[in-house]
Amino acid sequence: MSSNPNIQTICCIGAGYVGGPTMAVIADRCPDIQVTVVDINQARIDAWNDSDLSKLPVYEPGLDVVVGRARGRNLHFSTGVDEAIANADMVFISVNTPTKTKGLGAGQASDLRWVEACARQVAKSAKGHTIVVEKSTLPVRTAEAVKAILASVDQPSEPRSFEVLSNPEFLAEGTAIRDLDNPDRVLIGGEDPAAINELADIYGRWVDQEKILRTNLWSSELSKLTANAFLAQRLSSINSVAALCEATGADVREVSRAIGTDSRIGPKFLQAGPGFGGSCFQKDILNLVYLCRHFGLPDVADYWESVVLLNTWQQHRIARLVVQKLFGTVTGKRLAILGFAFKADTNDTREAPAIRICQDLLEEGAQLAIHDPRVDPVQISRDLKLTASHAPEADAGPTRGSLSGEATWWPSPDVASAINGSDAVLILTEWQQYKQLDWRSLAPLMRKPAWVFDARGVAEPKDVVSAGLKFWRVGEGDG
Ligand code: UDX
Ligand code: ADP
Repeated sequence: MSSNPNIQTICCIGAGYVGGPTMAVIADRCPDIQVTVVDINQARIDAWNDSDLSKLPVYEPGLDVVVGRARGRNLHFSTGVDEAIANADMVFISVNTPTKTKGLGAGQASDLRWVEACARQVAKSAKGHTIVVEKSTLPVRTAEAVKAILASVDQPSEPRSFEVLSNPEFLAEGTAIRDLDNPDRVLIGGEDPAAINELADIYGRWVDQEKILRTNLWSSELSKLTANAFLAQRLSSINSVAALCEATGADVREVSRAIGTDSRIGPKFLQAGPGFGGSCFQKDILNLVYLCRHFGLPDVADYWESVVLLNTWQQHRIARLVVQKLFGTVTGKRLAILGFAFKADTNDTREAPAIRICQDLLEEGAQLAIHDPRVDPVQISRDLKLTASHAPEADAGPTRGSLSGEATWWPSPDVASAINGSDAVLILTEWQQYKQLDWRSLAPLMRKPAWVFDARGVAEPKDVVSAGLKFWRVGEGDG
């Protein structure tokens, strides 16, 4: 364990999914360093400062405990961006970098307007020597732009200097605190060994030195995109095999086990499902695709793009399959959707497979009763671009029998009320509670013939079938 006398104050710009938990753990592990997380979003900062720790704006197991220990001691949340930058020895840039929606590179390139704004703000307000750390996932060579902006600002009376490092985050949502406490590796890219050492010393308080990898700036930026691309590629590979299993009578779980025991392949990230979601995978691959085209490598771009295309196909395929099994129409039928978050243990719905699957079913005129233990119904309305309706009575003849084709959805407070009166249940997120459902007591609530479509492979098949329900699960053929 080394001490780190040079860095006494840290500012993190961006109090989101990455900045909040990362800074909370740094503050927790380094009580002698003052850490201030700043954001332009007042409501978000207020939520981080809420005395009720269950109201933090990010739900992560263990986060409340870490924030509770450090907040007010050496962890602060504020909207005073300029002041925090001026006081900081090290500034982390941890703002959003979504895919561009218009202009050059729309649909693929990352929108760097927030990163650029941060760089300008640092250039304006920093004092003395400041180490600027790129935490957000960025296209390769972004550091060049950040450096150019920092260098271009008129020198104020007091001399100033900057070093830029890349330190991408590999944390996954739902396990962020565990990933931060015990990372597989910490990656630091940069040019100046002294600056790299300053950051390595901070992580060195709780991470073994051999896990701290030092690279050049561009390798670090590219490694983040590549790690996510490889993980997503595995998922598209196993989901493609799931479709083949369904067609051939194989079982994807058996195939996953068979290939995953090959130590060169390994067992992780081989669970077939409704396709990957989350804020990173699709965005980062599209970013990679854009970069490949930009650097004159169209074949490499096509290769990586196919990972995203297969993922979208898997989502449409599941919606299509539901319609086909329900006699070719879901118009006016009530379907229970179990799970809306992109994976379990998070309230995040960004790129959740449930969005596309529900939209396809709504397009067919379905009535969706949606249950998720963590996702706010307001977010579901936003994602589906459809206001929630009131839940109709389970046996509401005219409403449920209405064949007008008007799509509706409503939030269900619990699983039983979602399932009540439905023709089918779709399990779209692998929440623990969906693994233990009592199908014998749920089955009588459904209109027969009733289906369970298990896109996550979490239900126990014999329990569903013995309850008299028809059952489909991802990647299982008819045998
Ligand atoms: C991911 C990376 O794991 C993380 O390193 C990076 O920093 C950010 O992106 P995250 O998006 O939080 O993290 O979720 P992750 O656990 O990787 O899952 C991504 C998606 O893949 C989810 O929709 C999940 O349900 C799906 N998934 C994952 C599967 O369908 N099967 C699996 O076996 C694993
Ligand atoms: P991530 O998942 O990468 O953490 P989020 O969208 O959850 O992304 O969080 C990014 C945060 O950065 C948002 O709360 C946003 O308000 C904040 N932000 C963006 N630009 C700036 C800026 N120039 N100054 C301060 N905060 C910013």
